[in-house]
Amino acid sequence: MTHRIKKILLVSALILWVSSCKNEVKEISNTQSKDTSLKDAFKSDFLIGAALNKSQIEEKDTLSINLIEREFNTISPENEMKWEQIHPQKDTFYFDVADKYVALGEKNNMHVVGHTLIWHSQLAPWMQDVKDSLTMVKNIEHHINTIVKRYKGKIDTWDVVNEALNEDGSFRTSNFYKVMGDNFISLAFKLAAEADPDAKLVYNDYNLWKPEKRGGVVRLVKDLQAQGLKIDGVGMQAHWSLEGPSLKDIENSILAYAALGVKVSFTELDITALPNPWDLDGAAVEQNYEQYENDPKMNPYPEKLSVAAATQMANRYEAIFKLFLKHKDKIDRVTFWGVNDGQSWLNYWPISGRTNHPLLFDRDFNPKKAYYNVLALKNK
Ligand code: XIL
Repeated sequence: MTHRIKKILLVSALILWVSSCKNEVKEISNTQSKDTSLKDAFKSDFLIGAALNKSQIEEKDTLSINLIEREFNTISPENEMKWEQIHPQKDTFYFDVADKYVALGEKNNMHVVGHTLIWHSQLAPWMQDVKDSLTMVKNIEHHINTIVKRYKGKIDTWDVVNEALNEDGSFRTSNFYKVMGDNFISLAFKLAAEADPDAKLVYNDYNLWKPEKRGGVVRLVKDLQAQGLKIDGVGMQAHWSLEGPSLKDIENSILAYAALGVKVSFTELDITALPNPWDLDGAAVEQNYEQYENDPKMNPYPEKLSVAAATQMANRYEAIFKLFLKHKDKIDRVTFWGVNDGQSWLNYWPISGRTNHPLLFDRDFNPKKAYYNVLALKNK
């Protein structure tokens, strides 16, 4: 054999070997994602879900739909059931997308969450102008009766009231509160229970790991219970970061809420990988920091996470899920706020135009290291 032929043979063998290795890696990751899923891994512990956007609900985004059907057994509507969307004018309800959302959940035998009946944000403008309590009561009655009755037996859990508390545990001075005091909360829970006695009813809010805010939730739940009203759960939104909150604070809240006889759900889990504006705390959707747009310091991973950051993210998710498993008897559901990183609201909030990486699936729907770390907890 000439030297030249030998060289050609060697190079061809090398190419064959490299490509067979590649296939092997591909096959391993495909089987992993086919044979295991979050919903199956955690089926004896709690439900696992995701918030869906409009194109997912309308099944236009088929790649998302495949993943949603494979990985999740509960869904939440990211925006489509909020007051401004579903009830934009006094006598106008818009049910088109909400109907499709509920049908999608039913088709897949999923636990369907309604988000949310009473919230100061993304509220229809006509409701912001209401000044007297009689009109406010009538409007709330009309809103809750119409929506909850329409989906009676189909929506399994309602976020009845969202974000009614300030950080110190006092009541937020929303228009609902200005007009009715905190009576709007008991009214909402009473109406929802009457409209669908079998639906689970939840109070949902962010920063519920904070001791002062925790105190406010405990008072709120006790007050509803003292009035003989039904409340089944507290929803901790869980818009968290790599650094905080501490596992201890989260655990103390799980224990405090469970001690009231209600279940805990993590309703909007995501973990930001990006630096936050110095004074940002929580998830108030009206906050926006335009001065930081296009500031590269605030957008350190415009392509993908560094290996170090991806590892940190995986470890953080692992620690959080380990805590969830420790308290699985108190936890009903863990829902991610979005399906893949590219679809997360954290790409445009609180600073728009950034590239965030807060979920378990990357922009190409591939499971990330964090996904495998979370799943591995069930194999230990
Ligand atoms: C967010 C949506 O993800 C965004 O698309 C929208 O622009 C603003 O609201 N707390 C909640 C959710 O209860 O409804 C919010 O969802 C995030 C914070």
